[in-house]
Amino acid sequence: MARIAYVNGAFERIGEARVPVEDRGYQFADGVYEVVLVIGRRMWDAEGHFERWRRSLKELSIDAPMGEPAMRAIVKKLVRRNRLSDALVYMQATRGVAVRNHAFPTTPTSPSIVMTARPFSLAAADRVAAKGVGVILTEDIRWGRVDIKSTSLLPNAIAKDAARRAGAVEAWLHRDGDITEGASSNAWIVDAEGRLVTHPKGNAILGGITRASVIACAEELQLQVVERPFSVEEARAAREAFITSATNLVTPVVRIDDGEIGDGAPGPIALRLREAYVSRSRRLSEPS
Ligand code: PDD
Repeated sequence: MARIAYVNGAFERIGEARVPVEDRGYQFADGVYEVVLVIGRRMWDAEGHFERWRRSLKELSIDAPMGEPAMRAIVKKLVRRNRLSDALVYMQATRGVAVRNHAFPTTPTSPSIVMTARPFSLAAADRVAAKGVGVILTEDIRWGRVDIKSTSLLPNAIAKDAARRAGAVEAWLHRDGDITEGASSNAWIVDAEGRLVTHPKGNAILGGITRASVIACAEELQLQVVERPFSVEEARAAREAFITSATNLVTPVVRIDDGEIGDGAPGPIALRLREAYVSRSRRLSEPS
């Protein structure tokens, strides 16, 4: 069955779906996106993702193409039309079509919206987490507003490709000796005292929705979370390390470059947090 995409009001086969060549998303990466995990046809962390979607649009002065109830309805339809139950839903809005000029168009444009869904296997993700993943370290060469979830991802793509070529799953980005985050995930370590350490929110990282939920899980488990930058050396010497994102949930990191983290096996705290995150998300995504 051909995959179905939602494009500006219509459901179309993905191979036939089109956007105009002068869409500013295509020419300037002038747009924002979200990736939401859907399990059993229910969105996980939906409120957080929609809130960040609105914030990203506002920061870039792009009009919301539609409201949250309409988007939720389309996500439901899209998942159903693709005959999926567990899926990763991608949603993207751009400023729309205008004659190419760097400055924002002065006459109002109609923002464009696209959504796609692809299958997700929680069982396969669990198998990856049970083994743990490797990350490489690479310089953070991104712009100064990565708190906005913009489609401008070339530095992330370059970092991720370097990771892939090195046989790793993620690239941890560093700036001035500190790890900011992963190319498409937030970065965490567990220090010698068992505290969870992750870079504070601000302009230097994307405030992950999974990150926020994992902080809530840690509190429930009475684990201490310290939001502060941590250095490359601290990362290499960490007791445990892990990444969080809608696609990875909580995934243990067992290798940084060529060095093992801890004893080279997924850490117990990371695995407990993953379990807690899964059960919390299941609970919160149930209809009330
Ligand atoms: N990426 N940091 C970056 C740079 C990201 O791209 C992502 C998510 C995260 C984690 O955010 P969240 O927990 O809200 O998924 C952190 C998505 C999954 C992507 O680009 O595919």
